[in-house]
Amino acid sequence: MASESNLMENIVSLAKRRGFVYPGSEIYGGLAGTFDYGPLGVALKQNVKNLWWKMFVTDREDMYGVDAAILMNPKAWEASGHVSGFSDPLVECTKCKRRFRADHLDESGICPNCGGSLGPSRQFNMMFRTNVGATEDESSATYLRPETAGGIFVNFKNVIDSFHPKLPFGIAQIGKAFRNEIAPRDFIFRLRELEQMEVEYFVKPEAWAAAFTEWQGTMHAFAAAVGLTKERVHELEVADGDRAHYSKRTIDFEFDYPFGRKELWGLAYRTDFDLSRHAEASGVELSYFDEETKERIVPHVIEPSLGVDRTVLAILASAYREDELGGEKRVYLALSPSVAPYRAAVFPLLKNKPELVEKAREVFSILKKAGVSVIFDDNGNIGKRYRRQDEIGTPACITIDFDTLGENPEHTDTVTLRDRDTGEQKRVPISELADSLRA
Ligand code: GAP
Repeated sequence: MASESNLMENIVSLAKRRGFVYPGSEIYGGLAGTFDYGPLGVALKQNVKNLWWKMFVTDREDMYGVDAAILMNPKAWEASGHVSGFSDPLVECTKCKRRFRADHLDESGICPNCGGSLGPSRQFNMMFRTNVGATEDESSATYLRPETAGGIFVNFKNVIDSFHPKLPFGIAQIGKAFRNEIAPRDFIFRLRELEQMEVEYFVKPEAWAAAFTEWQGTMHAFAAAVGLTKERVHELEVADGDRAHYSKRTIDFEFDYPFGRKELWGLAYRTDFDLSRHAEASGVELSYFDEETKERIVPHVIEPSLGVDRTVLAILASAYREDELGGEKRVYLALSPSVAPYRAAVFPLLKNKPELVEKAREVFSILKKAGVSVIFDDNGNIGKRYRRQDEIGTPACITIDFDTLGENPEHTDTVTLRDRDTGEQKRVPISELADSLRA
């Protein structure tokens, strides 16, 4: 297996070569902190988001989805504390003028780039500013949202008025967020344009601890569902003073990335901070009438917040394997079938035998109609096709051969099903394929 630093290089290179992730606007030399997902990356990412939506929203009865605007009234970010407090410490080298995040450096005061001396540290606000409309002054300034949570809080009253949910209930959103990170790094780990999957779960104040524990369990279940092994996911209780300004308790879910143990997701107890601040700043009451006690309360909030890109990177890092199969070296992604871009690939044994191609096309179409994500491949020999599918993490390869067509009557209308991880093959009736792939 590659060393840890090579491992990251190998993952980045595979991701580009095979169409998972490309550098952002690459033909112009790229743009730091941005990446573009290619066809296989989109499929993988979509599977992650669908699975999250299923586990965090549709499998439950107490969740409501929203898709809020990325551009919001800037007053929302003043109220939430982001205008004054969403910053990282920045230092600049007095000699080469390079800028660094102060908390990423040692305390020597020496520039890691040129050895010059570093200037004083100052707070740098990470929100991207922009202007709305044709005037470019303070009156038209706003921000690209730095977290999707903001779009949820401003819709709290709308959801209550439309659906009259009982506490506890939650509002979920998946979407882009933007942070002008001082030092974007480690591929898709620290981005300037990222995607989040967030829930704001509203509870009675006294019920926060139980809800916190419940979501903690759901996050571990989600980690397992996307194929992250328990051994590589760790919890870190974030200490007083290190938490975000709105949080009274935070657990970071950390993952053992090839470049070290780093934050994957966060779970925070945001108290009534956001609803109270937005109510005060907007003048709109953001409370809940409790029918049981006949009292109006401001609900407290538990927030599971999961970065899509960090999840994708953790999945790729977990899945990357180098081994030897049948005497040949190979690279493969041991992706969980729940997130793999394709569940199976369908091949005719030989490309130049129309009867095999026709039957393979028939099997391909049966599986597609059954909702299985499949790819058809007749390029090169079978060995090459296996390697190609292994490298993109396709869990199963299906080959239509002469036995399928009845050359061996015992095997008529059966195919070979090859397992990506072991290379083992078995014969399966075409009629049972879809169910066996869905299992
Ligand atoms: N609403 C709470 C919130 O945004 P956060 O800890 O700042 O909290 C939540 O971010 C998650 O978003 C992180 O755990 C991570 O998965 C992801 N994330 C944050 N900043 C990121 C960045 N610059 N690049 C990629 N993902 C990021």
